[in-house]
Amino acid sequence: MYKTHTCGELRAAHIGQTVTLAGWVHRQRDHGGVTFIDLRDRFGIVQIVANPGESHVNSIQDARAEWVLQVTGVVRRRPDGAENPNLPTGEIEIDVKNCEVLNPSKPLPFMINKDEDTDENVRLKYRYLDLRRERLQNNLMLRHKVVKFMRDYLDERGFIEVETPMLFKTTPEGARDYLVPSRVHAGSFYALPQSPQQLKQLLMVAGVERYFQIARCFRDEDLRGDRQPEFTQLDLEMSYVHRDDVLDMMEGLFTAMIPAVAPQKRLISSPWLKLTYFEAVDTYGSDKPDLRFGLKLYDASQVFANSSFMVFQNTLKSGGVIKFIAVPGCAEYTRKEVDDLTTFAKEQGAKGLATLALTAEGVKGTAQKFISPEEVSALKEISGAKEGDLILFVADSKNVANKTLGALRLLFRDRLNLADKSVMAFAWVVDFPMFEWNEEDKKWDAAHHPFTMPKLEDLPKFETNPAEILSDAYDMVCNGYELASGSIRIHRRDIQLKIFQLLGLKDDDIQLKFGHILEAFEYGAPPHGGIAPGIDRLCMLLADEPNIREVIAFPKNQAARDLMADAPSSATDKQLKELHIRVVDKPAETPKA
Ligand code: AMO
Ligand code: AMP
Repeated sequence: MYKTHTCGELRAAHIGQTVTLAGWVHRQRDHGGVTFIDLRDRFGIVQIVANPGESHVNSIQDARAEWVLQVTGVVRRRPDGAENPNLPTGEIEIDVKNCEVLNPSKPLPFMINKDEDTDENVRLKYRYLDLRRERLQNNLMLRHKVVKFMRDYLDERGFIEVETPMLFKTTPEGARDYLVPSRVHAGSFYALPQSPQQLKQLLMVAGVERYFQIARCFRDEDLRGDRQPEFTQLDLEMSYVHRDDVLDMMEGLFTAMIPAVAPQKRLISSPWLKLTYFEAVDTYGSDKPDLRFGLKLYDASQVFANSSFMVFQNTLKSGGVIKFIAVPGCAEYTRKEVDDLTTFAKEQGAKGLATLALTAEGVKGTAQKFISPEEVSALKEISGAKEGDLILFVADSKNVANKTLGALRLLFRDRLNLADKSVMAFAWVVDFPMFEWNEEDKKWDAAHHPFTMPKLEDLPKFETNPAEILSDAYDMVCNGYELASGSIRIHRRDIQLKIFQLLGLKDDDIQLKFGHILEAFEYGAPPHGGIAPGIDRLCMLLADEPNIREVIAFPKNQAARDLMADAPSSATDKQLKELHIRVVDKPAETPKA
């Protein structure tokens, strides 16, 4: 070893010992010829001191940020008043006897020892330097702890980890596939799995009963802060279970894990709240509600059944609803502030936003002259709105009203600081609709994925009204994010076939894509179900990071590029030829960002 101790472990108990350390120059300063260096390794920082006139001093004086040094010296107590209580090693320092430069460093593109705002593209290009910073070191460590906890917890409960292939066949989760051309089979492609969904179900047929995997998933989809083209799930499946068996297992895991890996976080509500999909969207305007605060949506359609307000009247006549939120303390909003909210509401798809301010001098706002005192009382009655509140109405289809008010709810969460950052508000959203109508392609899509079991009592609706079929799907939500999705699966061939058909798949297509799983279901497939929490999203929340790139060692940027290695990049003509691939429409130069 290049070192006898780590930089972080030395304490007063080591005083008098001769130690050898190796690490990076975190900070360097000179005081009247005496050189002080904060030497850093993964385990911490320690101060080393070199006096002028000693033989090794030259190399120490030359050392700059991020040079790699090996230092031998004696641990001694720092002089009175020079202790640093913020540093675990702050009582002591190293009196250097020998110093060797193991490797110098070029001047850095950004500082490692400060958390300053650096352009993310620069950080990603030099990711190996970015990762040296304390913030990202902590994130790597957190992620390690999360995954280790999951493995141990599940192992203790009879789960086994099974690896499933990356080179496989299309596994639909609603995104595009990444395809890998086969050299040996000209014109044929593997698909990288969007999730191990089919494989874990086949493992249930195979008798594994309790499976999990820290699984990499690949999805070619539009990127957002909480999405990467490759990401990691805790993928899990269980045989002979009902919905609540899976939910209880997960709830137990998360409730035990969070205090162990992120003790600064507070879990609210035990057992976790269970909301149906419709309760969630009706009350919070989202199927992934942030439950750290109230600001619920209320339906005022009844209140305005005889409204004199044309906008409200017309909406109700056409089958729409009038919904509102009562925003605390915003009754004195200016005209401009209200206009900005209206613009925001329109961006969400609403036709407009009506307002009613409950001020000390009475009600004001765009809807004031159309709303009677009785109606105002009724609104207060349903919502508990009080003086000082600003009521915001959206009259529209239920979907648009919920979506718009749901977005306004989050806007006020951030503006008024309504959500406690230390709280993790977990909940289950259950009873999702099985299908969504795809207006663009004029067909039904699976709301979760096609392997989800419809509620058996809804099966007769297949012929009449697929929109009303509910499924045994569930989501784990936390603080406004979907952290996990899962379902009880179809284990019978006839039902699975029916679902594929309803989704518009032709028989040969079904055979081609899913023949293997349909066949497997004919050999005694046990009832089963599972779930998959996204590990990146979980770590992002636990680390209070704004996006999942911060908790992934080597993420892609928002344009799906790896800026460090410059991937994706072109292939040689020889490679393409071997793969039986010709690139048409080759762009003159691939855009970099
Ligand atoms: P689903 O597609 O909902 O379900 O994914 C489950 C969880 O994975 C995470 N996730 C992502 N994280 C980062 N980047 C992405 N692009 C991304 N996409 C999804 C989310 C999400 O909740 N096979 C099913 C699970 C099952 O039914 O068991 C599935 O993959 O946290
Ligand atoms: P208008 O009659 O279109 O001038 O609208 C009168 C007021 O009602 C304005 O403040 C609009 O923003 C608001 N408004 C219009 N359409 C809606 C709607 N669908 N829901 C809520 N308020 C609306």
